[in-house]
Amino acid sequence: MTASPAPRTSRRRWWALWGLMAVSAIGITAYAVPPYLSGNPADSSVPIDPNVALHYLSLAVHAVPGGLALIIGPLQFMTWPRVRRPGLHRVMGRVYMISVLIASGAAAFAATFSLSGFSIQVAFYLLVVAWLYTLAEAYRSIRRGDVQLHRIWMIRNYALTFAAVSLRVYLAVGLQLKQSFVSLPFDEIYDASGWASILVNVVVAEYFIIQRTLASPARRAASAGLPDRDPLRR
Ligand code: HEM
Repeated sequence: MTASPAPRTSRRRWWALWGLMAVSAIGITAYAVPPYLSGNPADSSVPIDPNVALHYLSLAVHAVPGGLALIIGPLQFMTWPRVRRPGLHRVMGRVYMISVLIASGAAAFAATFSLSGFSIQVAFYLLVVAWLYTLAEAYRSIRRGDVQLHRIWMIRNYALTFAAVSLRVYLAVGLQLKQSFVSLPFDEIYDASGWASILVNVVVAEYFIIQRTLASPARRAASAGLPDRDPLRR
């Protein structure tokens, strides 16, 4: 059996991960959103269907609140503001929720008219449904006063929001590989990056939930010689 890391090491590791998450969320927002602020479809990073008047607009309506949700997410996971300024946590939570609702509606529209291929369209639809479902569950659990369950559903929801970061990281790696393997078609790199961004993030989120939310209270209880309580019900 592996020994659990000392609390200070574990806290340092958590802060390093949090910092990486926050910096990459800000970086991807700063890089991906501006082409949709100009109002010029020629600036779009993905091909725009010239026969669909609202295609570019739907991407703009999707990208701006999507970027806001991406940036707000890491702040909501910080303990200090959540405990000291619960009002602020609530307001930012509502802004996050509204952002995800608007971004997912526009994403469903953009996915319908996407010129990037059927496989990635399916991935985007799946992502929209999962994004809305996890948000609804997070909202329902906090309305019932179940903070622990709310946290779990928000970790799942933000992991899906964060797929926007993973997708672009995988895409950058894929494009680097394409320089050595010229025959690799771009569409396949895009498809693989899209699907991987969802699947890997879901697995990482579940691992994180087990480690931080479920396993650590059990470990703490065991080392203090206390009976193990069901952490979901605290
Ligand atoms: C997690 C749920 C999300 C879904 C289902 C989704 C869906 C989509 C779809 C369908 C497109 C059009 C892609 C194409 O036609 O090839 C798109 C593009 C885009 N999305 Fe999202 N998206 C999500 C999250 C986000 C987030 C959180 C951001 C925040 C930055 C974001 C920013 C963008 C941008 C900037 C584009 C334009 C294309 C690009 O620059 O890559 N998306 N998204």
